[in-house]
Amino acid sequence: MAYNFDEYINRSGTESLKWDGFENRFPGLDAKGCIPMWVADTDFRVPQEVIDAIVTKAQFGIFGYPKAKGASFDNAVINWIYKRHDWQLMPEWIVPTAGIVPAVTYAIQALTDEGEGVLIQPPVYYPFKQTIELNKRKTIENPLRLNKETGQYGIDFEDLEMKLKDPNTKIFILCNPHNPVGRVWSVEDLTKIGELCLEYGVIIFSDEIHSDLVLKDNKHIPLGMQDPHINQNVITAYSPSKTFNLAGLQASAIILPNKEIRKKYLRQLDLNQVNGLNAFAGIALEAAYNYGEGYRREFLAHVESNIDYALDYVDKHLNGVRIIKPQGTYLVWFDFRGTGMSADEIDAFIIEKAKVAVDLGRWFGEEGAGFLRFNFACHRSILAKALEQIKDAL
Ligand SMILES: Cc1ncc(COP(=O)(O)O)c(C=O)c1O
Repeated sequence: MAYNFDEYINRSGTESLKWDGFENRFPGLDAKGCIPMWVADTDFRVPQEVIDAIVTKAQFGIFGYPKAKGASFDNAVINWIYKRHDWQLMPEWIVPTAGIVPAVTYAIQALTDEGEGVLIQPPVYYPFKQTIELNKRKTIENPLRLNKETGQYGIDFEDLEMKLKDPNTKIFILCNPHNPVGRVWSVEDLTKIGELCLEYGVIIFSDEIHSDLVLKDNKHIPLGMQDPHINQNVITAYSPSKTFNLAGLQASAIILPNKEIRKKYLRQLDLNQVNGLNAFAGIALEAAYNYGEGYRREFLAHVESNIDYALDYVDKHLNGVRIIKPQGTYLVWFDFRGTGMSADEIDAFIIEKAKVAVDLGRWFGEEGAGFLRFNFACHRSILAKALEQIKDAL
């Protein structure tokens, strides 16, 4: 089936956070009239099979408690992860959870005590730090380093080892592919991370929500399939929500191969009285994973062509601006430091002058100062207009 990622869909006035909820997100800045290219959902309709599954359920008209974890849910996850990444999951490892940020939170609550350390690699998806701190744990940072020669971010392993060695560090939240810098971590990186965490007794939460969205010839490797010892030390999080635009349904599959860790995680769900997914989430995940491969490919091709378009445009027209070329995700990290503006000026420039609502770099940590994150899961005309407005404002 061919999908149409060239169809412009007007989402204004649909109670969308991205389109209708951005004006208050930039305190002190006037975001009225901005083009919304922030928060990570897409401007595209989901696969028809997902719509059909939801309509069928809606027309059935009974929305009683769904079974928490059926065989069809497990099979959809198992088949998708095997097809995509060659990793054979066991059904008992899979725990459906309503969202990955909630899953990170339950894992932190289950596996650490107040005051204990949770390691992240900024600039990184900001809800990680929020949930660490809301839960009174300590954020341990292993900042990524931007390599001037390759133009890519990498891991400072010396610093990482030093921080993992601290007996207070209990969990490492890995983001792979990494939001916002777009890295798809290599097998060498993953092996080193896996081994270091085993050596120092730090459990890894590997957030692989963007793993279907790996660009060009990059390859995603699940950390948990590395080797049997590492496998026992990793919690992996998958969800169709980014690829298939299902974030509002909150369907994710958390993979917990280690029996003891799984027991503690499930106990935490009980403590919070969290009961599985809502009546539409599981069926949407199943339809996306069972029938969505063609959609995924066409969506990815659209994202790639948006990235190519922007790389060319920025190179030709936006002096002092540089794109960190993403290896994965539809989120694109722009370096504005070469414009000579300060971080405050860049934030004010993009919102008030260029009138493009993006994620401000410092939301992801101080390392993000001078950077901006753009969401490229949009119609080409939106991207083109945003780039033109930036050019004119510069
Ligand atoms: C790395 C990462 N993890 C998790 C999420 C959100 O997950 P959920 O909506 O399932 O809580 C996002 C959304 O952008 C993300 O980029």
